[in-house]
Amino acid sequence: MSKNFRIIGLLAVIFLGLACSSQKSVELQSPDGKLTYKLDVNEEGNLFYQLKADEILIINSSKLGLVLKEDSLFTDKVKIISVDEIEKEETWEPVWGPNKSIKSNYREAIVLLQNANSKEFKLHMRLFNDGLGFRYEIPKQNGLDSINIMNELTEFNFAENGTAWTIPANFDTYEMLYRTTSINEVENANTPATFKTDAGNYLSIHEANLTNYAGMTLQNTGGTHFQANLVPWPDGIKVKTKASLLSPWRTITIRKSAAALVESNLIQNLNEPCKLEDTSWIQPMKYVGIWWGMHLGVETWTIGPKHGATTENMKKYIDFASENGVHAVLAEGWNTGWDNWGKPEAFDQTTASADFDFDAIVKYAKSRDVELIGHHETGGDYIFYEECMDAAFSKLHNNGIRTLKTGYAGAIPNKQYHHGQKMVQHYRKVVETAAKYHLMIDAHEPIKATGISRTYPNMMTREGARGMEWNAWSEGNPPEHHVILPFTRCLGGPIDYTPGTFDILYKNRKEYIKWNSNDKGNSRVHTTLAKQLALWVCLYSPLQMASDLVSNYEDQPAFKFFENLPAEFDESKVLAAEIGDYYSVARRSGDNWYIGCITDENARNITLDLSFLNSDKKYKAIIYADGPNADLQNNPTDIRIFEQEVNSGTKLEVSMIESGGQAIEIVEL
Ligand code: NOJ
Ligand code: CA
Repeated sequence: MSKNFRIIGLLAVIFLGLACSSQKSVELQSPDGKLTYKLDVNEEGNLFYQLKADEILIINSSKLGLVLKEDSLFTDKVKIISVDEIEKEETWEPVWGPNKSIKSNYREAIVLLQNANSKEFKLHMRLFNDGLGFRYEIPKQNGLDSINIMNELTEFNFAENGTAWTIPANFDTYEMLYRTTSINEVENANTPATFKTDAGNYLSIHEANLTNYAGMTLQNTGGTHFQANLVPWPDGIKVKTKASLLSPWRTITIRKSAAALVESNLIQNLNEPCKLEDTSWIQPMKYVGIWWGMHLGVETWTIGPKHGATTENMKKYIDFASENGVHAVLAEGWNTGWDNWGKPEAFDQTTASADFDFDAIVKYAKSRDVELIGHHETGGDYIFYEECMDAAFSKLHNNGIRTLKTGYAGAIPNKQYHHGQKMVQHYRKVVETAAKYHLMIDAHEPIKATGISRTYPNMMTREGARGMEWNAWSEGNPPEHHVILPFTRCLGGPIDYTPGTFDILYKNRKEYIKWNSNDKGNSRVHTTLAKQLALWVCLYSPLQMASDLVSNYEDQPAFKFFENLPAEFDESKVLAAEIGDYYSVARRSGDNWYIGCITDENARNITLDLSFLNSDKKYKAIIYADGPNADLQNNPTDIRIFEQEVNSGTKLEVSMIESGGQAIEIVEL
């Protein structure tokens, strides 16, 4: 049995039940009894649910239902036909991830319902100790050959106000800054959307297993009440399918602390087990690449005097990777078509540009024991990409390349949105086709992460956030951005944020071309150098990039942290966390631990309790801290690297300056 199929300890108890004709409600409790879900059918036969934690109402009576072009399901004189209940407990092992094994324990009710037109449908509800998932199913039945969803009625009506961390409900991009507002001030939002209620519950609303459906956004319908608003097709229909339908899970994670919110595995637990037979070719990696130079405007994607992806430059990057413990090298602008960016069918994904000797580079990388990462920018033209995909993927595969970064920077043809059903289908097609060619995917301008990496572990990482690139050509990402991401975007899954700028103030950038209209000439990175190191630990990605020009890493002792940082981990623990303020996480690989601590615009001291270390052992901590002369405005690169003996009794004092951080490697003595 391959390791991804191994389930350790499985307990499943099934209770089958026919409902009596008058049954008007179904109640479900989480395994620990703390969460209570209640489904109600009212006098008119409409469906509602509510959710309590410790007897306190979290979600008020909230509507459920789908309005189809063909019928109105869950909305019209609905009655409960039967209720099946099941309890399941298992521990499973992902192919990769911040933890080697994941526990799953839930109680599920599957409710069969019928409406006034005798149409049948099901509601699946799963209650874990850390939250709720529910989904709609329309089984195949007579008189429903095609299914067109006009509207999803699902509501999330918060029982009380609180604080919200959200980005707007944009149908084309997730690359926005987070707003910190009260819940009732959120007009609309993309998910994952994060909330802290006045009573102190930390909540995240998202979806799991987004498959053949439209992305969900949240629309405020008054006060603290929200309704699902699906991203439409150009004709306004939200979801189109034939015969039967299974919606993504709508999820509400509920925890008592910000740290526990991050540690929840609800999203992955609501996805299906691995579908790939052989996963031996899938492997987390660290990489560098020809990338930042183009964003800084000192190199170009297009061929010309400043072309970045030349044979010569590529060899330099390969040499650097080989000598500094980096597994792989990315090259953007390696192929032809970049002069046509923005036009249809712009990119040729199989033809290298004249100054990029593809075959020689493949050979050279192999000789230096470094892998190459392919790059396919599509400009958003998914139609053309689907036509070229097989040829482009086999070119990579035939040359021993097993990682591919994709990009969709541009408008989607035929007035489709980036986050609608058509593109959900496309992104999945890429992942499935890539699996056939043994390619791991890193998608930029992606569909949101909803945990499908469990099912397709070659879906490694994705952007889907305002990433590092914004610092090169805009006013940049403010200090608090990094201490909001772990509690929002990252709850969906790994992020290819690409940390690692060492030349924070662009002192080494002599002349550059302003190529982006967001560039006001005041760009820089709004962190210290120590915080950049810490972000490699804080923002988990199984493909982790050191994104600066490799020339900026030469003779930099701080790069040792990246060199020593593993790409794979056995275990992760959040040590300290408050949304928008600070974050500290420790990740174990074998006997060693790697810790990242980051703060917002405020200088901060935190104390780390190292009691997770083995009490029989002694350790050495190699600490990368903001230096004595570090100053965010004028001297962000001052770093102090020192060693200290630590053990399980140590309370480690971490001091960070404004937008500073600390990265710590703990090795057994
Ligand atoms: C946007 C991506 O996020 C970025 O990483 C890439 O360099 C450009 N598109 C060009 O493909
Ligand atoms: Ca981007």
